[in-house]
Amino acid sequence: MTTTTMAPEKLTPGKGCDADRSLADLLIRTEMGTKSQVSHLPKRYMGLEATELDERIEAARKTLGDRLVILGHHYQRDEIIQYADLRGDSFKLAKAAAARPEAEFIVFCGVHFMAESTDILSAEHQTTILPNMSAGCSMADMASTEDVLQCWDDLQGVEGVAGKVMPATYMNSTAALKAFCGINGGLVCTSSNAQAVIRWALDRREKVLFFPDQHLGRNTARKMGYSVDDTLVWDPFQPLGGNSEDDLRRATFILWKGHCSVHKRFTVEQVRQARERHPGINVMVHPECTMEVVDEADYDGSTEQIIKSVSEAPPGSKWAIGTEINLVNRLAHEHPDKLVYCLDPVICPCATMYRIHPAYLAWVLEGLVEGNVVNQIKVDDEVAHWARVALERMLATT
Ligand code: 13P
Ligand code: SF4
Repeated sequence: MTTTTMAPEKLTPGKGCDADRSLADLLIRTEMGTKSQVSHLPKRYMGLEATELDERIEAARKTLGDRLVILGHHYQRDEIIQYADLRGDSFKLAKAAAARPEAEFIVFCGVHFMAESTDILSAEHQTTILPNMSAGCSMADMASTEDVLQCWDDLQGVEGVAGKVMPATYMNSTAALKAFCGINGGLVCTSSNAQAVIRWALDRREKVLFFPDQHLGRNTARKMGYSVDDTLVWDPFQPLGGNSEDDLRRATFILWKGHCSVHKRFTVEQVRQARERHPGINVMVHPECTMEVVDEADYDGSTEQIIKSVSEAPPGSKWAIGTEINLVNRLAHEHPDKLVYCLDPVICPCATMYRIHPAYLAWVLEGLVEGNVVNQIKVDDEVAHWARVALERMLATT
């Protein structure tokens, strides 16, 4: 199975996307393409014992040798991470493909938008594969390209706002939305470079439209010295996003009403309880958490920053972490000389990350050994071009 992010007939830089019917067509086709991605694991891979899967995965890796690189996002379960040639956050992994030019096949154990970014940044001769096509991201799904285009169209219709907004998308978004930013002068950010990216945007235009994560947007605005009053939330299900024209003229940050269902679960109460139970504990959370939780915590940082902080901390130090459970448990395991635990004792793993199971990995690897590419992620060339423009603007800011 191959999925392709379709291109519009024409993508014209500098032209308002609202007026570009072909781009609207792209959005609809892209969305339909994404939603029709279903991975049917063949029956012969169901119910296999872990030991058999392990033997078969290792045998396929050995046969494929340097032609294969397996990338594992930090939120993957241990049963998958054990096979990763490289581990990292979404940004690090997107760049990893270029660092392994000898690898013909990049098997991305993570979620759909990450595999798209890898395909965009990889070389022509490299093929990106997502073992389970239904491994999406609920946050990325909250910003449909069609709704973002409608928002853009609406903003261009407001006097005093039109022409003053820079679009900036979080890495957790479709390739089509990254391309939308590229076409409209904007760029991409990750949780580790959001401040630099938004500074870049506000040096060039008065306002920023940030999507899909309102929390990362708000937390970043606050860190940059703005107040909540400088922000507003754009609800795609309300006329003008639920705002008045005056609100839009006043705000510097227009934040898309999206969130991460994993990080939204952390609460201020959990931070307080951690301090009561373990005086002196360090509380570090991901900036996808709510502003109240980020304010209450000692530190906030991206996945890689959390790993760095815990790894570099002195033995005996204590850490309550607000991020995905697979990463926190792995950190605890790798640092037995420190107390490391998840702020939320009953948190579920990221449900979509969890869809990458060893059976899917065995399926795609054995397919490659037999000469069959299954579950390829292929972003259309023109969409990839504009998404790359937005990604490269990000790289130039940091
Ligand atoms: P990273 O960009 O840190 O990999 O995070 C991705 C993500 O999905 C966080 O929820
Ligand atoms: Fe998406 Fe949240 Fe899962 Fe990250 S943790 S992939 S933002 S749903």
